[in-house]
Order: sequence, then C-alpha cells, then structure tokens
Amino acid sequence: MSVEQVPVQRADFDQVMVPNYAPAAFIPVRGQGSRVWDQSGRELVDFSGGIAVNVLGHAHPALVGALTEQANRLWHVSNVFTNEPALRLAKKLVDATFAERVFFCNSGAEANEAAFKLARRVAHDLYGTEKYEIIAALNSFHGRTLFTVSVGGQPKYSDGFGPKITGITHVPYNDLDALKAAVSDKTCAVVLEPIQGEGGVLPAELEYLQGARKLCDEHNALLIFDEVQSGMGRSGHLFAYMHYGVIPDILSSAKSIGGGFPMAAMLTTEKLATHLAVGVHGTTYGGNPLACSVGEAVIDIVNTPEVLAGVNAKHALFKARLEKIGQQYGVFSEVRGMGLLIGCVLTEAWKGKAKDFFNAAEQEGVMILQAGPDVVRFAPSLVIDDADITEGLDRFERAVAKLTGA
Ligand SMILES: Cc1ncc(COP(=O)(O)O)c(C=O)c1O
Repeated sequence: MSVEQVPVQRADFDQVMVPNYAPAAFIPVRGQGSRVWDQSGRELVDFSGGIAVNVLGHAHPALVGALTEQANRLWHVSNVFTNEPALRLAKKLVDATFAERVFFCNSGAEANEAAFKLARRVAHDLYGTEKYEIIAALNSFHGRTLFTVSVGGQPKYSDGFGPKITGITHVPYNDLDALKAAVSDKTCAVVLEPIQGEGGVLPAELEYLQGARKLCDEHNALLIFDEVQSGMGRSGHLFAYMHYGVIPDILSSAKSIGGGFPMAAMLTTEKLATHLAVGVHGTTYGGNPLACSVGEAVIDIVNTPEVLAGVNAKHALFKARLEKIGQQYGVFSEVRGMGLLIGCVLTEAWKGKAKDFFNAAEQEGVMILQAGPDVVRFAPSLVIDDADITEGLDRFERAVAKLTGA
C-alpha cells in the first residue's frame, strides 16, 4: 500500500507550519551529487550543503546503499539494547580521533547539551558544587536548547525565554587576554568552535586555542570544541582540532557526521566518560541503527587522503574565484574560512545585505548560505565536481553582477 501524497506548495508552509523559519520560495524535490531540482523541474547548483550537512552531496550511492541495507534489517531498538552499526561507528570514531568513548545523539544542540552536562558533572563530582562556570565566546553558536542558547554568545537567540542557565561568561573570540581574565578555579569548561560558523566563518588563531588549552589545564577546567559545523572533513582535516594540533577533552560533532541523516556524537576520554554512569544522561534515538549505518559510510569515505586533499584543492578553487568576484564588483573585503567552509565578508557598502546575495544567487540557480547579515557562506559537498564548482560560481558571478548593477 502506498502513502497518499496530497499536492503541496510553498504557500502551505504559512498555513500549517510554526512560523519560526522563512524558507525560500521554491521547494526542492530531488538531489543528485551537487545538483538539486525543484517542483517545477528547475535545476540548481548546491553550494549550501543543507547548512554544512550533505558532506557527500545528495543521493551518494554508498550512503543510499548503507541506509537501504540497514532499512531492510533493523531500524530501531532504543538504548535498552545496543546495535552493531552504533558499535562499529563508535570504534571508527575512537580509532580516528583523540576520543576513547562516544555518546550518540541526534543533533548538534544535543551533542553540546551532553558536553556541557558532562563538564558540569565532572566538576561537581571531583571539585564540589562551586565549580560550574562555563566560559564561551561572544558571537558563538551552540544550538537552540535553553542550555545551548545560554552558552551561545548571541543574545538574539537566548533573550525572551525567561531566566537563562546561570554561570556562563562570554568573552571576545580570538582574544587570549580576555579569556585569561575570565577563567578561574570556578571554571568547569571553556567552550570554543575552532571555526566560528554561524558567527561569520571565522577560524581561531593557533595561539588562541593553544592558550585556551593551557588555561584549562592550569584551572582543572575542560576544553570543549564544538565541531558541529567544522568537523567530519569540512576543514580539510577529519576534525579541525587536528589542523591546530590542540586536543580537546570533549568534542561535539553533528551535521556532516550523518551526511544528511540526523545524527550527532559527543566524543571524550575514558576517564571523563566514567562520570556519565548508568542513568545520568540519555536519549531514546541516540545511536539509532539507520543513522549509524549512514555514519559509518560517511567516515569511511571522508576519512581518506583523497577526499581530504580534495577539500583543500577545492578550497583553493573557490577562494581564487571568490576573491576575484569580490574585487571586480567591490562586494567582499575578505574571503576566509578553511576547507569547504568559506565566508565572504561583505564590504561596508554591502554590510547587512547577505540575504540579498542569497536571493540573487537563487534567482540564477545556485544555492548559497548566509552566516549572519554580513557574511555570504559556502558549505558545499566535500566531493563536489570541479565542473559544478565552476558552473555554480559562474551563476554566482551573474547574480552578483545583477545585484550590483554592473
Ligand atoms: C557550531 C554549531 N554548534 C551547534 C549547532 C546546532 O546544531 P543543530 O542545529 O543540529 O542542533 C550548530 C548549527 O548550526 C553549529 O553550527
């Protein structure tokens, strides 16, 4: 028996959905590699990657194969039982990273929620009730639960929901002196994105992360890296911490780790993991067999020298062309980022108008992203064909030309 499919249009969104998003005027219905088709059959080049999620593009045969094979075998058993894909993926993550223990969940916010709760629990168990403060960066983003908006450094996401989680201090990013001044023996964790994503695609300076590591060690605080956006190959390394050579105590991963299937993980050491004893934390769906079977296929493909080297080569293609476009049309003051997480900072004249670039790009058949109002962001598939990059950037240039009236 097939499910009845009633026809739907973009206008239905406003009738049946909570109005917390303002999706584009078209509805994508199919994707293949880095191309997407909408309801009318119009084809677009996808440089948005589902907000840095579709790490291997759309409908990658290895991911489709892993998912359908698992779909015919076992969908869900809950955390009352373990399952083979979860254990295999956890082993792969442990083998590939600093981590010795893995907690699976379903979204970046949940991975961070687990990370923050673990940090507070460790401090509580080892040092008592007074050590619970978390230092985070201004302009950071860690998710939309109450704890994660409270830790995130953007009041627009945390204001207006009553009392916030207390004990959180925000300091300017990449400012080691400010961090030094904020950290104390009451600090249980310092939380940083190695590359601030939503905050404008801003990579950390090496000395900043090294200094943060040292400060944490001096104050018995844990260093948490939020690699929800920067992780799983996007930086040109499996995780961005590997580029910096600074090892965190806890790492959160989501987005790319599931290649488009909702999943996330918190990685940590064996010693810290002991504080999440039976019953201390949990989730029904975390480590779901479908999600983990896709996750296995993702890491098998992404964590290879060919794919990671390809990310850096494709970064160079994007950067050279975007800098040229920026100069020619006077729209970008800087093209920054790492790997295939790239941000074009708008010049003074175009500040606040990133949405106009998004709309203009869509009109020319290319899907891009914003990172706040002042930065145009690109987060395509890590295996996007060079021909798709060229075609997409040709379309993007036409969009910029139209927008600027050139
Ligand atoms: C760095 C970072 N952390 C956490 C999140 C939240 O992830 P999710 O939307 O899956 O909860 C995001 C999402 O954009 C992110 O970029």
